[in-house]
Amino acid sequence: MNRKQKSMPLKGKSVVVTAGPTRERIDPVRYVSNFSTGKMGFAMARAAADLGAEVTLIAGPVTLETPAGVTRVDVESAADMLREVETRFASTDILIKTAAVADYKPKLQADQKIKKQDGDTVLEMERTTDILAHMGSIKSNQVVIGFAAETNDVEAYAEKKRVKKNADYIIANDVMQQGVGFGTDTNKVTVFSKSGKSDFPFLPKQQLALELLQFVAEQEGWHS
Ligand code: CTP
Ligand code: CA
Repeated sequence: MNRKQKSMPLKGKSVVVTAGPTRERIDPVRYVSNFSTGKMGFAMARAAADLGAEVTLIAGPVTLETPAGVTRVDVESAADMLREVETRFASTDILIKTAAVADYKPKLQADQKIKKQDGDTVLEMERTTDILAHMGSIKSNQVVIGFAAETNDVEAYAEKKRVKKNADYIIANDVMQQGVGFGTDTNKVTVFSKSGKSDFPFLPKQQLALELLQFVAEQEGWHS
């Protein structure tokens, strides 16, 4: 290969990345969410585009700029995100679920602001659909990549998620480590796949995203 020529192992691949948190409405002025800022997901989208993929980025509410050459679809709730992922799944080669999807949503969404009352201590919640697990259960040729945010026992929990959700790769981070996880510009991950685990160095998220996708391309035997 010409040394100046950029390696494009994802050329011709259609990639869907989800990023950021989701918001689950309680009423018109309140919601349930988490501290995700979308940085890792946006880095994954940009890296996939840099490696030649056609990229759709399904983003929860974040304040980041859309990476060049990436098609962005904004969503609010887990249900919205599921719908956008499902619509595209048949024509997707690689699904990357970086989003921190809310696990619970209020059982009822009030049309008007709920007024506080004495003794009202409980908000009834129900589980959202696990998008990654759902796509893993219906996938055919798609490569499905999930993330795992853990505060302890990273290895055991991440491997359990990979198997349970039928994901090809789980990228796990220990969010209690300094410089790792929500809001940071750096990350340190371990990747779990059916061929074992691979540790990645502590890196800026953008560089890490590129190395992660190059790793997946190598594992899958994709060359350019
Ligand atoms: N995920 C998803 N839909 C959900 C919840 C999680 O698609 N409703 C995906 C995330 O996008 C991520 C992976 O599942 O790729 C793991 O998310 P994580 O929150 O670490 O794990 P959970 O399975 O939700 O378990 P828990 O939060 O209890 O650790
Ligand atoms: Ca979760």
